Amino acid sequence: MEPQTILCTLLLLPLVTRGGSATNWLYLAKQPAVRNMRNKEACERLRGLTDGQMQLCRRHISVMDFVRRGAEISIDECQHQFRNRRWNCSTLGGLQVFGRVITQGTREAAFVHAISSAGVAFAVTRACSRGELEKCGCDRKVRGVSPEGFQWSGCSDNLSYGISFSQSFVDNPERRRGMSSSRALMNLHNNEAGRKAILSHMKVECKCHGVSGSCEVRTCWKVMPPFRKVGNVLKEKFEGASEVHQKKIGSRKVLVPKNSHYKPYTVQDLIYLSPSPDFCDKDLKNGVLGTTGRQCNKTSHAIDGCELMCCGRGFNTAEAEVVERCSCKFRWCCSVKCKQCRNIVQVHTCR
Ligand SMILES: *[C@@H]1O[C@H](CO)[C@@H](O)[C@H](O)[C@H]1NC(C)=O
Ligand SMILES: *[C@@H]1O[C@H](CO)[C@@H](O)[C@H](O)[C@H]1NC(C)=O
Ligand SMILES: *[C@@H]1O[C@H](CO)[C@@H](O)[C@H](O)[C@H]1NC(C)=O
Repeated sequence: MEPQTILCTLLLLPLVTRGGSATNWLYLAKQPAVRNMRNKEACERLRGLTDGQMQLCRRHISVMDFVRRGAEISIDECQHQFRNRRWNCSTLGGLQVFGRVITQGTREAAFVHAISSAGVAFAVTRACSRGELEKCGCDRKVRGVSPEGFQWSGCSDNLSYGISFSQSFVDNPERRRGMSSSRALMNLHNNEAGRKAILSHMKVECKCHGVSGSCEVRTCWKVMPPFRKVGNVLKEKFEGASEVHQKKIGSRKVLVPKNSHYKPYTVQDLIYLSPSPDFCDKDLKNGVLGTTGRQCNKTSHAIDGCELMCCGRGFNTAEAEVVERCSCKFRWCCSVKCKQCRNIVQVHTCR
């Protein structure tokens, strides 16, 4: 590195951590030390937190490992949902886990905000239900007989603690930014939409009781959807996200659809302020890796197809051998024997 670059980096570092991106707390996923924090002082050694989040850490130290878990599942889910897109939710190793692309008001940023605030609500609620946190437990107040004739009982997921913790922790950087900032309004809206994706997809699980499983009595309780389901819901919201801009109504600033012909968005929808870049070329300053080297699908006309994925640059084709289990036979008793089949497949990668 040139001496000048080093100087710049040193000068910029405090600005980045202080001013910070609103999603720097996701860096908790990369700090295994959160697992074994015993005393409040340990909070100060964590990186990526705002002052307000640091205070929450000191006050609720036992919850922090589940915030870390929330960060982890949301990064994994983002990578799953975006695996076939040009921007594939790669983490880059820095404090801004996805790079600057997520700080720019795009629909990708909307998704990251929604999935990560959902991730914290989800992980904390799960910990509550499993009895891993003292401050919360499961909901035993859903009682009585339902209209369908089953008995409510047992341990329903109680989302209220997890949701309010996510609101305090994940929304904290925005509250500091001030409510007149469009970015704060956008992020807060998407954070809430993420949590709503859990709330509006709660499921009922039941167990039968009675002579040899006759189901004379059914007891049921409410559970959160699997996190994959939350990811699927939010990915659909990403596809249909509304572009918005700021408007003053009286003394209040609100975000309204940019195109006035579009229907208003709901609390469950994702909104964004700026169009996304095309993500075709490497732009490390903004954390964009580009699509060179990405695998593409030669027969698809969608975004995973070679034409769109490679941005018209063309692609290389190589042959690869895949080994699969095949001709499996069941053997009495009880094992399954398979052969190994070797197949040659063509793998296309973007130039
Ligand atoms: C995303 O794509 C890049 C290449 O652009 C690749 O190096 C990386 O492994 C991919 N990340 C994930 C999470 O699939
Ligand atoms: C759910 O948790 C909240 C906060 O921990 C508590 O106040 C509330 O009573 C619980 N609800 C039920 C129905 O158990
Ligand atoms: C490629 O795309 C086609 C058409 O969309 C699809 O049927 C096929 O399963 C895809 N192949 C792979 C390997 O994803």
